[in-house]
Amino acid sequence: MAIQIKNLSYVYSPGTPFSHLALDDVSLEVPDGEFFGIIGHTGSGKSTLVQHFNALILPQKGDVMIFGQSVNNHRTDPEVRREIKEKKRSKKQLKQDKINLKALRRQVGMVFQYPEYQLFAETVFDDVAFGLKNFGEEDKSPEALERQVREALELVGLDFDEVRNRSPFELSGGQKRRAAIAGVIVTKPKVLILDEPTAGLDPRGKKEILALIHELKRTCSPTVIMICHDMNEIAEHCTRVAVLEKSKVRFVLPPEELFLRGDLIEELGLELPAPCRIARALNKRGFDLPENLFDAASLSRALGEALRRPPC
Ligand SMILES: Nc1ncnc2c1ncn2[C@@H]1O[C@H](COP(=O)(O)OP(=O)(O)OP(=O)(O)O)[C@@H](O)[C@H]1O
Ligand SMILES: [Mg+2]
Repeated sequence: MAIQIKNLSYVYSPGTPFSHLALDDVSLEVPDGEFFGIIGHTGSGKSTLVQHFNALILPQKGDVMIFGQSVNNHRTDPEVRREIKEKKRSKKQLKQDKINLKALRRQVGMVFQYPEYQLFAETVFDDVAFGLKNFGEEDKSPEALERQVREALELVGLDFDEVRNRSPFELSGGQKRRAAIAGVIVTKPKVLILDEPTAGLDPRGKKEILALIHELKRTCSPTVIMICHDMNEIAEHCTRVAVLEKSKVRFVLPPEELFLRGDLIEELGLELPAPCRIARALNKRGFDLPENLFDAASLSRALGEALRRPPC
């Protein structure tokens, strides 16, 4: 199991007048190899949830396991908690706890919303290499570094020799996003989390980034978790989808079951994929089309068949 969340709750600014319950008793599992989608109205807790998946936020209540290892052993284990409280945990043990957390984090790469805003180095090479240095790469030789940066840039479809010495800020929008993704996958995370990876891109850019994500799933990170507001993208790409509403997970379903519950999706303030909406509208006018069609080709096929059927 790649990620397991059990009874996770999280409050921002606890104990202050600004306190806000962002996650409320959330439990879910993401097995290895899945393309897992997360949807929900703005403010429902999606980004807070995924930041727990790589221990960027540590659980206040509940547990987060990454490949079977709890991120907060040293916090939730009552014995260890007592030791920390009574200052009985040695410096070495505390350091070890931190190292373990780093090793866990390395397995889960996080691509934030608009990742290009986080580019900062003077050259594309340095930007991508930062990820490796940050994780204390074992082999620090310049050759090893160059090999890994080259590989990451090529995986995201950028030409290493062309971009290595360029400022990341000179790149085009699409190239910047690719360079930022290279900085995450350079450590070869087993799980890749993307928070709205297609936000702000034109239709062609969106298509290209989604194709890239599939390629990365195949070649680098076998488990992908994607937050997305575009239901067409969710329907086309995800194997299962978690729906968040007001800090809770309402349900986790494969898209073909999820989008059959059109009334519920609309009640949650979410939009159905366009072909589902068209099928529903036609059914209200007397057609009998399946309502879990995700692409234009399936819809036109179903419509063709319906029109050929003799009227009852
Ligand atoms: N640093 C913070 N301090 C206080 N409240 C926060 C903080 N970050 C998020 N929140 C609040 O927690 C709730 C959940 O936020 P989160 O960013 O997880 O939502 P989201 O589902 O990702 O929303 P969006 O779709 O807009 O990105 C929101 O009400 C938000 O205002
Ligand atoms: Mg968010």
